[in-house]
Amino acid sequence: MGGYAAVNHETVLLDEAVQYLVFEKSGYYIDATFGRGGHTEKILEQLLIDGKVLAFDRDPQAVAAAQSRFAQEERLTVIHSEFSKLEHEVSRRHILGKVSGILLDLGVSSPQLDQACRGFSFLHDGPLDMRMDTSTGQTAAEWIASAKQEDIARVLKEYGEERFAKRMAAAIVRERLQCPITTTSKLAEVIKDANPAWEQHKHPATRAFQAIRIFINDELGELEKVLESTLRVLKSGGRLVVISFHSLEDRIVKQFIRKHAKGDILPASVPIRDNQLNKKLKPIGKVIKASEEEVSRNVRARSAVMRVAEKL
Ligand SMILES: C[S@@+](CC[C@H](N)C(=O)[O-])C[C@H]1O[C@@H](n2cnc3c(N)ncnc32)[C@H](O)[C@@H]1O
Repeated sequence: MGGYAAVNHETVLLDEAVQYLVFEKSGYYIDATFGRGGHTEKILEQLLIDGKVLAFDRDPQAVAAAQSRFAQEERLTVIHSEFSKLEHEVSRRHILGKVSGILLDLGVSSPQLDQACRGFSFLHDGPLDMRMDTSTGQTAAEWIASAKQEDIARVLKEYGEERFAKRMAAAIVRERLQCPITTTSKLAEVIKDANPAWEQHKHPATRAFQAIRIFINDELGELEKVLESTLRVLKSGGRLVVISFHSLEDRIVKQFIRKHAKGDILPASVPIRDNQLNKKLKPIGKVIKASEEEVSRNVRARSAVMRVAEKL
């Protein structure tokens, strides 16, 4: 099993995200997903001495990396927390409605995926953990040991869009009666054996691992909560920039922006002007994807989709 290799994270859509995010150089900005600080560093480069960045990460390793890498940076505050608590942290600092930009670069970082001890990957054998925040919550192994078969099947179907969810859930439950499933390689093996139709260029456990990771970290619930709070946290003219890595995330972001760009939905007969519809967001530009050049350098960028909106 691997240990704590010093793995870096190659930031996706670095220039594009920061260009859209930073429109004034003395503002208060939030990097809600610090990771290894690629975006944070670039934001700080753009800001003047009175600009500020509040960075969040729920992963204690990411927070430790932030504290050592930016120890001398007085414009940066790092918070160990889920980003769903962003509004609370912003309120405590008396900057509610005063924030110039919020960046969400969703999903997992390369250090999380590549370190076997984090238990995210079927490529590296390690303890079946999958928590981004290793200080709290249930590990994937604990969940797999106790979840009902139909709940496992539901998770694989909903979050992994896995065709063989039921078959895989049955195999997991059969296996755990023999022997607890406590490692990534054991889980990958059980799922692989239960998958009768392997997709090209895709490990047969890819979808199932993604599904369990999303469930264990409540990734979609976190996203829905933080998006709602951005409407209160951002100031008028403030920017929301979100980079998603799979269709479930991107759908939530797209629908959120669309809903608040439309404003109140009233029957056509109600005599009301467009500017009275309580619109809260304006989409900026089209969906942005990584260039071919970036994808050739960093395969993770292939599935990245960036959306930008401005608070009205
Ligand atoms: C893709 S990485 C971000 C990489 C970063 N932009 C960079 O350039 O290094 C996503 C990071 O967000 C963190 N994260 C994901 N969901 C989170 C949540 N709900 N609350 C706080 N942090 C979260 C993960 O722990 C991970 O470190």
